[in-house]
Amino acid sequence: MEPRGIINLYRPYLNLPDYAIPVSLQEGSTPLIPVPRLAAEIAPGFELYVKYEGMNPTGSFKDRGMTVAISEALGRGARTVICASTGNTAASAAAYAARAGQRAIVLIPEGKVAAGKLAGAVAYGAQVVQIQGSFDQALSLVVALTEKHPLALVNSLNPYRLEGQKTAAFEICDVLGGAPDLLCLPVGNAGNITAYWMGFQQYHQEKGTGLPRLLGVQAEGAAPLVLGHPVNFPETVASAIRIGRPARGEQALQAAEESGGEIIAVSDAEILSMQRSLAGEGLWVEPASAAGLAGLVKQVREGRIDLRGMRVVAVCTGHGLKDPDTITRAMDPPQSLPAEISALESLALQEQS
Ligand code: F0G
Repeated sequence: MEPRGIINLYRPYLNLPDYAIPVSLQEGSTPLIPVPRLAAEIAPGFELYVKYEGMNPTGSFKDRGMTVAISEALGRGARTVICASTGNTAASAAAYAARAGQRAIVLIPEGKVAAGKLAGAVAYGAQVVQIQGSFDQALSLVVALTEKHPLALVNSLNPYRLEGQKTAAFEICDVLGGAPDLLCLPVGNAGNITAYWMGFQQYHQEKGTGLPRLLGVQAEGAAPLVLGHPVNFPETVASAIRIGRPARGEQALQAAEESGGEIIAVSDAEILSMQRSLAGEGLWVEPASAAGLAGLVKQVREGRIDLRGMRVVAVCTGHGLKDPDTITRAMDPPQSLPAEISALESLALQEQS
C-alpha cells in the first residue's frame, strides 16, 4: 500500500523528535481543484486553484498539525491533551487523542461554536467545556494551566502544530511543480499563515522554486492584525476566525510582509457572498474558509492587484458541513409538493424552460 498521512510522506522534512509515536488518520494529500469559471468572474487571464482542506479526516486543515502534535505528545508520555478552540481544533484534537488513547479536554467559547464542530468533538469523546467568554480568554486559560501542570497544549502555540500544517505548502508546490504567485487564506489565531510561510520557505531552500505573495484575510469584526491592536469583543459570521488576540499575530504580520503581501479584512457580507460563489463551483466550505478568496476579490475590485498571468491558490480551510446553520438559518423551507407525478411534472418542466 502507498504510504499515507503527512508524517509518512514528509517526515524527513519535519522537525519531529525520534521519540514521537506516529498517530495518523491519513490526513493531508487534499485536492488542489482548478476553478476556471470562478477565476474568469474575478478577473481575466489568471489561474485559480482551491486547496480544499475540508477533505481532511475531521473536515479541516487542523488535522495536519494535530497528527504531529499528538504524535509528539504521545511519544513523551502525555496522557491528557488540552486546547482552546473556535471548534475545528477541538474536533481535530478530540479525534487524534481518541486514536492515541489519550484524554482530550477542549475549551470553547460558549454559544459561539458551529454545530458540526461541537458535534465532532463530542462524537470523538472529548470532554467539552464551554467558557463564559471569548476564544481569547479560553486560550489564555489553557496556556496558564499548561504552564503549571503536565498537560499537553495542542493549540498552534505548540510548534509541532506548525510543523504539520506547513505540509500543505509542500503539497501545493509538489502538484504545481513550484510555488504559486499568490496564496490567499483566512487568518484567525494566525498559526496557519505562519506555517504556510515556513513551508514555502523550506521548499524554496531545498528546490529553489520561488515564493508566493501571501494575502491573509481577517473578518472586519475580528481584525486585530489590520487595526493594529487587539479586539476585545470580536464578532463575525465566520465563527472559526472570531479571534481578537491572535497568538501568532506578530509572526503572521512578518510572514505577510516578507512575502510582499499583506493582511486585510473583509465584511461578513463579502464572506457569505464568496461562500455562495464557491458552492456554485460544487465546493461548499464553511464561512471562514471563503474569507481568503473574498479578500482577493476585494483587492481586485479596489484596483490594488493585477492578477494577469498569475497562478493563485486559495486555501479553503474547513468543510461546509461544519457549519450547516449558516445556510439553513437563512433559507426558506424547501418547496413542498403532494406525492403525485403531475405536481412534479409541472415543476420539472417549468424549470426546464
Ligand atoms: N479557517 C478555519 C476553518 C479555522 O477553523 C481557523 C482557525 C482558521 C481558518 C484560521 O486559522 O487560526 O491558524 O489563523 N480555527 C482555530 C480553531 C482557531 O480553534 O479551530 P489560524
